[in-house]
Amino acid sequence: MIVTTKKLFEAAYGKYAIGAYNINNLEQTMGLFRGNMDSQAPFIIQISKGARSYTHKLMLEGLIRSADAVFPDAVFAVHLDHGDEETCIDCINSGFYSSVMIDASHEPFEKNIEITRKIVELAHAKGIVVEAELGQLGGVEEHVKVDEADAKLTNPEQAAEFVERTGCDSLAVAIGTSHGAFKFSGNQSIRLDVLEQIQKLLPGFPLVMHGSSSVPQDEVERINAAGGNLKGAKGVDADQFLHAAQLGVTKINIDTDGRLVWTRVHREYFRDHPENFDLRPIGKVFMDEYAKFIASKNQKLGSAGKLPEVKKML
Ligand code: G3H
Ligand code: 13P
Ligand code: ZN
Repeated sequence: MIVTTKKLFEAAYGKYAIGAYNINNLEQTMGLFRGNMDSQAPFIIQISKGARSYTHKLMLEGLIRSADAVFPDAVFAVHLDHGDEETCIDCINSGFYSSVMIDASHEPFEKNIEITRKIVELAHAKGIVVEAELGQLGGVEEHVKVDEADAKLTNPEQAAEFVERTGCDSLAVAIGTSHGAFKFSGNQSIRLDVLEQIQKLLPGFPLVMHGSSSVPQDEVERINAAGGNLKGAKGVDADQFLHAAQLGVTKINIDTDGRLVWTRVHREYFRDHPENFDLRPIGKVFMDEYAKFIASKNQKLGSAGKLPEVKKML
């Protein structure tokens, strides 16, 4: 069942976070639904602009509608990830998405507010919720001075003003994470201190953490041992997810870790089965591994086992 994130966030706030997973194809879709059903978790499907154009935007829509029929007990939101104005409007008018992200975080503060408010008005008129972003995501390098790094993080006072003036339903905050497999060059981690300040000024308001893949070191080692070259890859400590959730993070975005599963499965499979040229055996291994990956992430997020109580709230 497709829902907006509103109810999911109400159920989770302060206790656990909902996993927001990016998909691009059939095998990911199948593994995603199976993993969430196996772990009895509500979830968010994220579709990026790149995913929409990988084949055709209607292909992913068709896959998700079919998965909804195959897994009638699943409860999930369909969310546009990192949308620009044009893509948000297309998704709002599609009648399919239940949530969009307008990402104008690269714009100056006032312009970000103007663009976000416009999308909020269009989306709310159709019952669709909006995630916005304030601050700049970026990996923390050890050589960068603390005040320079802090300048890119979300300013808590600005965050409160931004939410008030835009009417957005959730806010992606920059607290030291970045997208991809190379997040930190030293011992840095999520800036829970900044998150705490934001929560104090926005109590009860759902916050979103992007760039949350943990880039498991055993996964990286297996990829490298099977011919990959991902030296120095490093991610977020998944044991901090619940602490972040207590500080108001209700949605945690994970894409890179799923790509690492895909890479490990394919590299190892073709290394070990050089004679194989059939796409289905490897596809089946990937779907199984992807489902296991989703279920184990949901344990870390605290969303595993929460499906029955969320269903009661709907
Ligand atoms: O934040 C970006 C997501 O990982 C999606 O990546 O734009 O390559 O699909 P993508
Ligand atoms: P990762 O690259 O850490 O998986 O982040 C994904 C993300 O933030 C999608 O919006
Ligand atoms: Zn992101």
